[in-house]
Amino acid sequence: MSESAHGRRIVLHNRLEERESPFRLAEDARRGLTAETRTMPPKYFYDDRGSRLFEAITRLPEYYQTRAEREILERHADAIVARIRPGVLVEFGSGAAEKTRALLDAMRSAGTLEGYAPLDVSREASQRAAEALIRDYPDLRVEGVIGDFERPHHLPFPGRRRLLAFLGSTIGNFERERSIAFLAGAAAEMSPADGFLIGFDLVKDADTLERAYDDAAGVTAAFNLNLLRVMNRELGADFDLAGFRHRALYDASLQRIEMHLVSTRDQTVHIPAIDLTVQFAEGESIRTELSHKYTRASVDALLRRSGLALCDWFTDERQRFALALARLP
Ligand code: AVJ
Repeated sequence: MSESAHGRRIVLHNRLEERESPFRLAEDARRGLTAETRTMPPKYFYDDRGSRLFEAITRLPEYYQTRAEREILERHADAIVARIRPGVLVEFGSGAAEKTRALLDAMRSAGTLEGYAPLDVSREASQRAAEALIRDYPDLRVEGVIGDFERPHHLPFPGRRRLLAFLGSTIGNFERERSIAFLAGAAAEMSPADGFLIGFDLVKDADTLERAYDDAAGVTAAFNLNLLRVMNRELGADFDLAGFRHRALYDASLQRIEMHLVSTRDQTVHIPAIDLTVQFAEGESIRTELSHKYTRASVDALLRRSGLALCDWFTDERQRFALALARLP
């Protein structure tokens, strides 16, 4: 972008390092598919097709999370902003920055809004979101970071009062230790006046949870199976999509949904790009996603272990989803 009036209002720092690239599909496939429990990281769902399927998931009758979180933001954004009075919103995994506006609107109404800092791996998504936002918020400055937001070093707008936000319950995808590492890394960047708003899907009955991850229309099944298409395309693999079925189950003791791709027969899959042959017996699976569910008590404990303190708690009317507001203790 040129040095136009526009250009000076958007700065996107590139911290996508090849060595740390979040797109190391080949390496991740080798590690995941040769491990005792076969796993793949869920980030590889989201190619263009997968992103569209996820969009469709957010509109499914069974998938309440997106609507519940939107309800909370619409009802409580003013209260959240009143607690922190942030000048800057820092958004982890911002993507198209759709939920962002409820918070930016509240900051504008409170008269505090100065800046927006999107942190995302996609330069295109960040650039597009930034351009739309500076049109709609004429005094807003955008300073984003393109890179792996799990390494939150040198967040933009140091010295400003910041509201960090990690929405959509993406934290649920992380194993416990990894969520603590992520939160502790963010806490290390925070000042005592800053706040951190985090979305958590709440523990509920297994039926409701399993239906949310195994919808009647089969969209989540297509989303899960898309991972095999990604590996076929990117790694030259020969996964037969008809040889695997989608499975979602709630583990009540670990308070998490597990998504699997289950082999429907004995079969051999070749993955030329990593020179790997994988045998699947009928019923053997690849675990493709964890989605942890929380209670106020488990969020409180998680935040404490990460060097943060729960300072406010907002839920939708039906208590399906929560936004936790954390600060330094
Ligand atoms: C985007 C990670 C919050 O775990 O509910 C939706 C992804 N997977 N349906 C979730 C997902 C299957 C989603 N997150």
